[in-house]
Amino acid sequence: MRLNIVRVSPRYSRSYPVFIGSGILGELGELLASHTDLEPSRCLVAFQGPVASLASKASSSLEGFCRAVDEYRLPDGEEAKSLERVLELVRYMHDHNYSRSDIVVIVGGGAASDAAGMAAALYKRGIPYINIPTTLLSMVDAAIGGKVAVNYGGVKNVLGAFYQPSAVVEDVDTLSTLPWEEVLSGLGEIVKYAYTLNAKLHRMLREHGVNVAKKPSLLADAIVEGVKSKARIVELDEREEYGVREILNFGHTFGHALEAATGIRHGIAVAWGCVVEAWAGVKLGYTPERVARELEQLVESMGFPKPGLPSFERLEALMRRDKKVRGERIRGVFTLAPGRGAVIEVMLHEYLEAIRWGASRVWGDKREQH
Ligand code: GLY
Repeated sequence: MRLNIVRVSPRYSRSYPVFIGSGILGELGELLASHTDLEPSRCLVAFQGPVASLASKASSSLEGFCRAVDEYRLPDGEEAKSLERVLELVRYMHDHNYSRSDIVVIVGGGAASDAAGMAAALYKRGIPYINIPTTLLSMVDAAIGGKVAVNYGGVKNVLGAFYQPSAVVEDVDTLSTLPWEEVLSGLGEIVKYAYTLNAKLHRMLREHGVNVAKKPSLLADAIVEGVKSKARIVELDEREEYGVREILNFGHTFGHALEAATGIRHGIAVAWGCVVEAWAGVKLGYTPERVARELEQLVESMGFPKPGLPSFERLEALMRRDKKVRGERIRGVFTLAPGRGAVIEVMLHEYLEAIRWGASRVWGDKREQH
């Protein structure tokens, strides 16, 4: 695959292209010139240290497109996601007299797009930005859909906005140096799509398992499918108003708790979250047992590392803080069949009980089965 373009047309924002292809980072300037109406005089390339060489490739490629290209190095990892660090970037744009006809080009994973996207949303009530995700996780999820946020008061993503990018450029070649655990983390989100939204991804995973990420042409197809699924949901419910976007949270209630309690990577926790939440769906009568069994076998066979199970009291305390909790109830996300999920409001205590049953099943306490 050379170049694939998926358009995202959200309800309240301008539509934008997601370019997916091999070797397209070097053609960034041409792509933006021919497929968008952006005519910036200046481009600010914001990046995190580990992807400095990709950022400089992006900068060189932007030279014909922008009159001037500046580079701004964000702090590494989650360190970038604080209001103070975002304000430093805002100050840079202010001191260098950036205007709303200039653009921010963000090179990196989810933390970079969250932080620099937040600065772009705040500065002059919004300066356009382009996402260039460099992890599988951000290619299929965070880079699309306009969620930008920082952590505050010890709570993740508590300050933020919905502010859509003007384009997203995904060069699959940039994934070739990604650590394997980081690739697996992205595959966790692909598993999520396969059991809630995308039957084609389900077939691909059933047929090729983890090899989906090892063969470049399969990986590119999987990314295109993941992007399409994400794009359709963002179009239906850009600002999480209708309970549709919550479907993207399959695997995330248990997954977030597992991630917080053990420190494992997000998408790996999500993969196990999908398994446990599928079993919870069986217990509550929404998920056919064969679907949960198949999903569990898939995640096991793909080699997602399995952390020890933290105490359920700790996990439960974390899950009670999930954003889908509404008083005594929770908007649970369930898989009904491969490629088909649903958001169903259930009593929180019944949900937690079903999750506990699912987790004890997955972590081997077979006594708690049926
Ligand atoms: N990552 C979930 C969402 O964008 O809504």
